[in-house]
Amino acid sequence: MKRFWILSLLLAGAMMMAGVLNPARADEGMWIPMLLNRNEADMQSKGLKLSAEDIYSINHSSLKDAVVIFGGGCTGEVVSNQGLLFTNHHCGFGQIQYHSSLEHDYLTNGFWAASLAEELPCPGLKVTFLVRMEDVTEAILGGLPDGMSEATRADSIRQRTQALKAATEAGTHYQARIVPFYYGNQYYMFVNEVFEDVRLVGTPPSNIGKFGGDTDNWVWPRHTGDFSVFRIYADINNKPAPYSADNRPYEPRRFFPISLRGLNPGDFTFVFGYPGRTQEYLSSYAVQQVADVENPLRIAARTKRLDVIKAAMDADPLTRIQYAAKAASIANGWKKWIGESKGIARLKTVEKKQAFEKTFTAWTETPAGAAYKGVLPALDAAYQAAEPYNVMGVMLQEIGMAPELLSIAYAYGRLAEEAAGTSTASGVAAAEMTDSAWQAGIAALRQRAELFYKNYNPEVDEAVFRALLTMNREDMAVEPDEATQKDLYAKSLFVSADKAGALLNTPYAKRQNFVKAVERDVACKYARLIYGQYYNSVRPATARLNAGIDSLQRLYMRGQMEMQPERRFYPDANFTLRVAYGQIAGFSPADAVHYAPFTTIDGIMAKENPDIYDYVVEDRLKELYAARDFGPYADAAGRLPVAFIATNHTTGGNSGSPVLNGEGELIGLNFDRNWEGTMSDIHYDPSQCRNITLDIRYCLFIIDKFAGAQRLMDELEIRR
Ligand code: ARG
Ligand code: GLU
Repeated sequence: MKRFWILSLLLAGAMMMAGVLNPARADEGMWIPMLLNRNEADMQSKGLKLSAEDIYSINHSSLKDAVVIFGGGCTGEVVSNQGLLFTNHHCGFGQIQYHSSLEHDYLTNGFWAASLAEELPCPGLKVTFLVRMEDVTEAILGGLPDGMSEATRADSIRQRTQALKAATEAGTHYQARIVPFYYGNQYYMFVNEVFEDVRLVGTPPSNIGKFGGDTDNWVWPRHTGDFSVFRIYADINNKPAPYSADNRPYEPRRFFPISLRGLNPGDFTFVFGYPGRTQEYLSSYAVQQVADVENPLRIAARTKRLDVIKAAMDADPLTRIQYAAKAASIANGWKKWIGESKGIARLKTVEKKQAFEKTFTAWTETPAGAAYKGVLPALDAAYQAAEPYNVMGVMLQEIGMAPELLSIAYAYGRLAEEAAGTSTASGVAAAEMTDSAWQAGIAALRQRAELFYKNYNPEVDEAVFRALLTMNREDMAVEPDEATQKDLYAKSLFVSADKAGALLNTPYAKRQNFVKAVERDVACKYARLIYGQYYNSVRPATARLNAGIDSLQRLYMRGQMEMQPERRFYPDANFTLRVAYGQIAGFSPADAVHYAPFTTIDGIMAKENPDIYDYVVEDRLKELYAARDFGPYADAAGRLPVAFIATNHTTGGNSGSPVLNGEGELIGLNFDRNWEGTMSDIHYDPSQCRNITLDIRYCLFIIDKFAGAQRLMDELEIRR
């Protein structure tokens, strides 16, 4: 017994040294709102004036009733008793683009609905409220024997999940979502209310909403007015309903008041939203694969693509418009992965994980940890086995499928395959295609082709294709042969919007002509090779291997929790509602360099450059600046704040999240992280990781002073 004691003490010491046994590491964590009473004392000691029950309650209205999932991957918040909603400009971007035309260029000029009647319906846009969450671990996992096969286990879980979901939804208009936590060691159910009539109310022009563009993306100091305004509509009973002219503004259970009382370094803040994905509890093998293998590959491929696209955008204004959104999304991941790999190297994450794994392995030699003996070596082997497939998958995504031509050719190929009526991907003979199925297929393809060709430049695309040919592509296992390389852009009919469009006029009776034309096209043939390799070979292999990794990771997670019973483990982000808290703070990215936590409009004017697209400043903004006409939005020193950083642990999906003060009043909208801190998805470092928030004072300054949207100002509850 005594020997174990000594061993435990030694282990604890080693774990402290490895930096893993620090029960309440400052500011790290994305906490489950339902269990926030466990954080309450800590939060209050740091400046929270509310109780956990004020933030999340199932008994009465609480702050959670004002937080929504905006669309598919962002967060938004309700700010008036009339269902007014704030989110980021980059989250509303698709809707703003959808409503923009040459006559109504809301992207360039901004948009402010002057009345409810002018608010613009957004087909397909949904907003999701959380009604309640429940721990359903017992219902999903209860009684499943430890030794059961993974396949049987997965089957049982699927059946139980479906049954519980059906039982919960029965007789309600709610939607239930059951989600694994801690790699499948726990399950929670989220009961949601989804509204589908959401309208665009206002947006600043892009040179405010996207100020700094991709140049400043992921970067502090920042000066982006990244917000847009929507409104939720409901039926006459205040219930969700599809769009109808009779719908009226939704009256929420709760909305956020806005604080203009000002902010200081060190102030307590919390972020309430939907972080998408983090991986804090991986093994060293997994981190090594991400940082040393996958990220470098993705970065190299995107560097080549971006070099080509950016040069073309600089050379031609139409190309700039056509490729702006595409370049932004390619660059967003590219820049994040560079920052992440650097951060992991700088933090020595792999070495720290290895040190921890030594301790863990020693623990598995004791009776307490015996159940986990062998988990780490098995994970090591599993990651090694998966690596070639992961590499192949990344190469196919980032290199093979990168030429845009292939995506449209493949879409045509899918319809051709159906129309041919011979076989399907699964090898089962398909029934003869009906006339109506043909018409539906053509209509869907037409929509897709219109969007595609509006923003397509075959010269740019070919240059991307050729640039990627210079990469080492061996591990991709499929190559374009010489004829394909020569003919792809010279001969494919999909290079031409007109030719591709003409094919869509093929009548049902002549559909075999469509099949012939598409199937002999060089781009369709090559696309089928590339996509086939990805979907039929790599994806099934990685799915199988990842299932094995998942079950090992589930054990490893449980082992980590058992080994450190005194440590509080927050679950990795999984796009469920979380609370992160911290304080407003600058940081030092390098020796002798320090960043202050606030930016002001002075910084916008310093960056101003009429010749650089990302740094154009509106005349109206310049006038307000020259007159120092900041209204009640200036700080105590008379400067207009624009953005601030804090130590809240956030990730993608937190965009648009309400950033709140100790009273639960809105002080800003989360929209980004600092580049030096992007490794926080894998390893959070309190000295380097900062979330970037649009200061609510700049947001209101734009709505009020810049746009003069008094109608909206009147709805807000502003506290001074
Ligand atoms: N980096 C932020 C995020 O991950 C903002 C992305 C949109 N902005 C941009 N300039 N591309 O969503
Ligand atoms: N811009 C990100 C988003 O859209 C938030 C930044 C981050 O990854 O933290 O969710």
